[in-house]
Amino acid sequence: MISPGDSYGFDALDLAVLHERHSTKWRSYPPDVLPAWVAEMDFGTAPPVAAAIEAAVERGDLGYAVDLVAPDLTEAFCGFAARHWSWEVDAAQVHLLRDTMRGIELWIETFTAPGDGVVVTTPVYYPFLHAISGLGRRVVAVPVLAGAAGWELDLDGLESAFRAGHRLLLLCNPHNPVGRAYPEATLRAVAELAERYDVRVVSDEIHAPLVFSPAVHVPFATLGPEVARRTMTVHSASKAFNLAGLGAAVAVIGNEEDAKRFREISYRHRGPAGILGIEASVAAYHAGDAWLAALVTHLQAVRDHLRAELTERLPEVAWAPHEGTYLAWLDCRALRLTSPQQTFLDRGRVAFNDGAAFGPGGDGFVRLNFGTSRAIVIEIVTRMQAALAVPGDTA
Ligand SMILES: Cc1ncc(COP(=O)(O)O)c(C=O)c1O
Repeated sequence: MISPGDSYGFDALDLAVLHERHSTKWRSYPPDVLPAWVAEMDFGTAPPVAAAIEAAVERGDLGYAVDLVAPDLTEAFCGFAARHWSWEVDAAQVHLLRDTMRGIELWIETFTAPGDGVVVTTPVYYPFLHAISGLGRRVVAVPVLAGAAGWELDLDGLESAFRAGHRLLLLCNPHNPVGRAYPEATLRAVAELAERYDVRVVSDEIHAPLVFSPAVHVPFATLGPEVARRTMTVHSASKAFNLAGLGAAVAVIGNEEDAKRFREISYRHRGPAGILGIEASVAAYHAGDAWLAALVTHLQAVRDHLRAELTERLPEVAWAPHEGTYLAWLDCRALRLTSPQQTFLDRGRVAFNDGAAFGPGGDGFVRLNFGTSRAIVIEIVTRMQAALAVPGDTA
């Protein structure tokens, strides 16, 4: 039932209905497991987005999408970036992608050679690590450091990596899984290092619409023309508007020569975007603001609720300050379990992502997806507590 004040029904989820979903979140574990892992939310999408998808289906408009340049999507994205982050994107710099990871992989292939190092700030969204090693490049991990405001980028570590000759940085901001939306001063320091050592930067800002006040999202490419020139920013409506299965993303490439090389990659190799993804993203960027604002308010409340529940019921589980994304990075090291993720799964029947998969610094952590209702978050914590009430460990 939808309660007053919850006009989009974010708290009115029904687990029986969710279990009928066909997505990987709901199909990867037996039905007695509560899934709280992969980054998709338990809500639907914004009403204007759903209407755009329905209209496309009604038109029978399910053919091949346009290649590389989708003027409607570019215009909608530029409007969204200007409204939300005061970022005046040059429409000529916006390129259509199938998804953000494909864009990142193509960038690695185009601008590094096999055997080169690619710098990442771990723990980080693990497909970054797979993309680098899958393409025969080396992962150069610069783990984040624990600071008073939350996880911090290790600027000295980044400088050492750049000084050692590694010329590509994959930045994730807001940072999945550690939940930081890095402040301008930090990003400026990274930009200065990138300039000093002539490093190209991929800035994955897919979670940017999901930053909680008082934190704000600062697009890396807004830090100056020289920074923009060396940066490819990737974005998609897929996280904030829950459209991961539809296939559409954009890259903003701040340098015409790089963009030209990117355009030369064949259509087949790039992987075409999905037409429903484009339609949905246009609607999201044009007409999704009201739903998004309500979503962010809801997620912020769920985050605070989760923190209160954990503090009261599982004080051994630590959680650094969290500013963005619906993914909580929980430090379970004090529990002294061989694998916290496996223990919660086997004994509590709740599925998280294993922190170890996110690279150096991830051991002993789990990533919990709180893109759901308050009631389901309480159930998640109840299952964690039940898992820990069973004596012993799982190897
Ligand atoms: C930081 C980050 N980048 C990229 C992606 C995946 O995006 P796409 O489906 O557009 O490749 C995710 C998904 O969770 C993510 O968290």
